[in-house]
Amino acid sequence: MSGLFDVLEINNLHLKNRVMVSPMCQYMAGEDGIANEWHTVHYGSFALGGPALVMTEATAVEARGRITVRDLGIYDDRQVEPLRKLVEFSHAHGAKMGIQMAHAGRKAIVPEATLAPSAIAFSDKYPEPLAMTKEHMQEVLDAYRTAAKRALAAGFDVIEIHAAHGYLLHEFLSPLSNKRNDEYGLTRDGRIRFVLEVIQEVNEAVEGKIPVTVRISAGEYDEQGYSLDDVVYYCKQMVEAGIDAIDVSSGGNVPVAPPSYPGYQLPFAEVIKQAIHVPIMAVGILEDPKLAEHVIQSGKADVIVIGRGFLRDKHWAHSAALALGKEPQVPEPYRRAYL
Ligand SMILES: Cc1cc2nc3c(=O)[nH]c(=O)nc-3n(C[C@H](O)[C@H](O)[C@H](O)COP(=O)(O)O)c2cc1C
Repeated sequence: MSGLFDVLEINNLHLKNRVMVSPMCQYMAGEDGIANEWHTVHYGSFALGGPALVMTEATAVEARGRITVRDLGIYDDRQVEPLRKLVEFSHAHGAKMGIQMAHAGRKAIVPEATLAPSAIAFSDKYPEPLAMTKEHMQEVLDAYRTAAKRALAAGFDVIEIHAAHGYLLHEFLSPLSNKRNDEYGLTRDGRIRFVLEVIQEVNEAVEGKIPVTVRISAGEYDEQGYSLDDVVYYCKQMVEAGIDAIDVSSGGNVPVAPPSYPGYQLPFAEVIKQAIHVPIMAVGILEDPKLAEHVIQSGKADVIVIGRGFLRDKHWAHSAALALGKEPQVPEPYRRAYL
């Protein structure tokens, strides 16, 4: 029986415990999408706080795929070196670092025209996107491929493909936003086709050197959306396409807030865990250490992903270790605080 502070191997990635910092947009980059002092301190302090893995915020693979003009980007060679420094600092202090590669699709608020599977705005507060042509699709696939190569050059230990929260790849998966009547729509095999193509591009770019994971929205909170059965089907296809772990979130493709209570997304993770044989990452108000430990010990999920809990307490993993009666693995200069 594994616990929160036991190691985990995901393909060739060694995690010292089961704690990951969730991707969290900061909107603190300049319009060049380059990481700056904010990101140095923000990500650096997570690395000192004991998680095995720190995931970057949604990092855009192309400029028109930014959620806002203040997003981090990985679409320009100039963005690589500052990211490499973040990774290097994390590694020096015992944390692995992943990059969440994202394309905001119709939820981008940027000067460029936005893209989506179909020309349907997210809400009346968003512009109507262009329905993607095959040429657009090729451009986005190329963007993912180049971004993955840059992620390798920056030294990231894992790539998480963002296919959740109503952004471009989720938009393809969902019948709410994908009304295409070509081979990229109509059926669930059609709706997942573009996502599988993205996975293939990323896999070819990284050549098995680092694991590639996916974040999905396992529930849409809309009766016309996809079902949990569809999600399991999608996950199976993604794993067959080479995905190494699945990060199970929910919502974001309709302007409805998901529920909000401890473990609110766990039932999705549990169902997927039963059906899929790669590590499952669970997220959503899991910061009570006893709940986190229980989720791992009972085999409901393999990794605990903490977002807001880490914003409130940058040393959440050390605090959780103390609460569970374990010895926190703190940086040497901080040890006197734990004697
Ligand atoms: C400030 C903030 C920014 C977020 N940005 C992202 C993001 O960039 N990518 C993503 O997949 N989820 C994002 N999320 C969702 C979180 O990663 C996480 O899934 C959610 O907050 C639930 O986990 P929690 O209860 O531990 O915070 C964000 C959440 C917050 C609070």
